[in-house]
Amino acid sequence: MKFFLDTANLNEIREGASLGIADGVTTNPSLIAKEGGVDFKQHIAAICEIVQGPVSAEVTSQDTEGMLREGRDYSKIAPNVVVKCPLTRQGLKATRQLSNEGIKVNVTLCFSAAQAIVAAKAGASFISPFLGRLDDIGENGLILLQNIIEIYQNYSWKTEVLAASLRHPIHVIEAARLGADIATMPFKVIDQLFNHPLTDKGQAQFLADWAKSGRKP
Ligand code: E4P
Repeated sequence: MKFFLDTANLNEIREGASLGIADGVTTNPSLIAKEGGVDFKQHIAAICEIVQGPVSAEVTSQDTEGMLREGRDYSKIAPNVVVKCPLTRQGLKATRQLSNEGIKVNVTLCFSAAQAIVAAKAGASFISPFLGRLDDIGENGLILLQNIIEIYQNYSWKTEVLAASLRHPIHVIEAARLGADIATMPFKVIDQLFNHPLTDKGQAQFLADWAKSGRKP
């Protein structure tokens, strides 16, 4: 399973890259807005310099023509830019056209298996089911993820399943168990994956015993 960082923060992306676990980056308009008044295209270009893998840049037009204009424009920022389109009729029309032009599209805001099916049919390179936001309304995001993986496998569809809106390590572990192609997560969740109190305790004990025996690091 590939790991994408779900952030537009350059420091977090640099840190993820230095850990060797940033296979790509997903941004969205809210994440870009959190970075203040940055120039959108320059910021995406800066991310693409840090990470070699796919970097999602989301369109904000609501009509197909506008999405196509933005998508074509963003795809020129760097070879690893993936255009992110919303799972609306307009978004899927744009997805089909961009995909025909050889531009990769990540279809975002997916909340049902039916939506995931039409996104694959429209030529999406990635489908992003939002697990955490389904959990937030009392549904089980992992069941959606499982359904999409099963359906795509039935037909060997090429669209990669990108588990999104992950909130905690259990989401990541279960996405891996189910066989998601990619998990995108905030830096906080990446951090949580490393931590275990018994590791900290064990390490402290080892170092204390080493020091007691008079040895140096
Ligand atoms: C994915 O591409 C989205 O940016 C993201 O996962 C949304 O997550 P959220 O529900 O935590 O905002």
